[in-house]
Amino acid sequence: MNQTQLQQYAADHRRLLALITEQTGLVDPVAIDLDEFYLPLMKHARKGRLLPVEGVLVRDWDPDNRRTSPGFQLGMRLYTIEGIRFVRVRFGHSDHPNIWGLDFTAVSRADYRRLYRIAMRCRRDDEPAAVPPVLPREQLDLLWKNTIGYLEGSNLDRIKAYGGRAKRGVLLTGSPGNGKTMACRWIWEACRQRRWEYRLVTPDNYRQARAHDTIEELFGVDRRGIVFFDDMDLALRDREKVHETEDQAVFLSALDGINVHEGVVFVFTTNCSLELIDRAFKRPGRLDLVLHFKVPEAPLRRQLIERWHEDIRRHLDVDRAVESTEGYSFAEVEELKNLLVMNYMDSNQWDWEWAIKQFAINRQELSTRSTRQVGFSSPGLGLGIRHGNGEDIPF
Ligand SMILES: Nc1ncnc2c1ncn2[C@@H]1O[C@H](COP(=O)(O)OP(=O)(O)O)[C@@H](O)[C@H]1O
Ligand SMILES: [Mg+2]
Repeated sequence: MNQTQLQQYAADHRRLLALITEQTGLVDPVAIDLDEFYLPLMKHARKGRLLPVEGVLVRDWDPDNRRTSPGFQLGMRLYTIEGIRFVRVRFGHSDHPNIWGLDFTAVSRADYRRLYRIAMRCRRDDEPAAVPPVLPREQLDLLWKNTIGYLEGSNLDRIKAYGGRAKRGVLLTGSPGNGKTMACRWIWEACRQRRWEYRLVTPDNYRQARAHDTIEELFGVDRRGIVFFDDMDLALRDREKVHETEDQAVFLSALDGINVHEGVVFVFTTNCSLELIDRAFKRPGRLDLVLHFKVPEAPLRRQLIERWHEDIRRHLDVDRAVESTEGYSFAEVEELKNLLVMNYMDSNQWDWEWAIKQFAINRQELSTRSTRQVGFSSPGLGLGIRHGNGEDIPF
């Protein structure tokens, strides 16, 4: 009987599945292309026996990828992870442009879902977590608990079961350069790793949405997730002090009106002081937590400096560095590091005193310039020069 290529291909595939069951005992195996889950899963799985396919086993000595390569070209290999057995089979014997029918991973149908969950976890653990900002421990904990912790599976389910609100508002305030955006980035990364929904709304996005009358859309999420409103001074400021009443009414009604499907956290950041923020916004039900990001005290400046490259630290009097940065924002301390590095590239010297001096000169220039341009001269605001440290770049 003449078979079409497709029939032959399908028969080969079915034959491989049958051999898997025969040789490994997997029950009703499901074939999977692991794709981007492949490496994370293989890194964590334990390699088992190699087995031939129809008596054929060609090993592959791959010295560079010993951990993750299956170690064969034709044949199959058993793996186990957390008690689940699965198989990688590879038997690409023709020049089909796609060989997935002959090169795949398989697991018993009963274990299929669990393997998927494990693969998700492996992939998540594999990604480097974003660096949290240097903050007092309690503040970091509070932020985490009220965002990621709040949305985490069992917690959210229980809140909903008890009839609690599946919506939360967190406000990060404080003068520029003390980690509000960085904290958002950290939480955002944690969201991404969990495959939750997340969205960043910049003032620009906000203005556009307002122009198109689509503010509500900024607040909506389909799944559980976090919406970040970065630098929302415009929408949050007190109506009596700023004449943008309509704007705030729209903002607040969008915030109230949002239909929550699973669970959502809104994280707002602003440089405004809390007194300036609209009282209506501070009402319970809209904001559950306010975290103030302060200019760092000595111990936190020390923690920041201790994150610097060891070559810098070795040539630095850390006590002196901590002491001489009293009143600096985190971003300004980081700017000093930047000056140090730039100077080192030129002179091969780690010269702290030079960096401090240069920093003062830059700050002086900036503050006279900005006084003229925008009348923004309060030295307490820590408006340092920011070379590429992310302030204007939406993450
Ligand atoms: N708490 C912090 N810990 C570590 N680095 C910080 C911290 N705050 C600010 N920085 C540094 O300064 C940069 C700017 O800070 P950012 O988070 O944008 O400040 P904000 O949003 O509060 O104005 C960051 O990218 C980071 O390099
Ligand atoms: Mg910011």
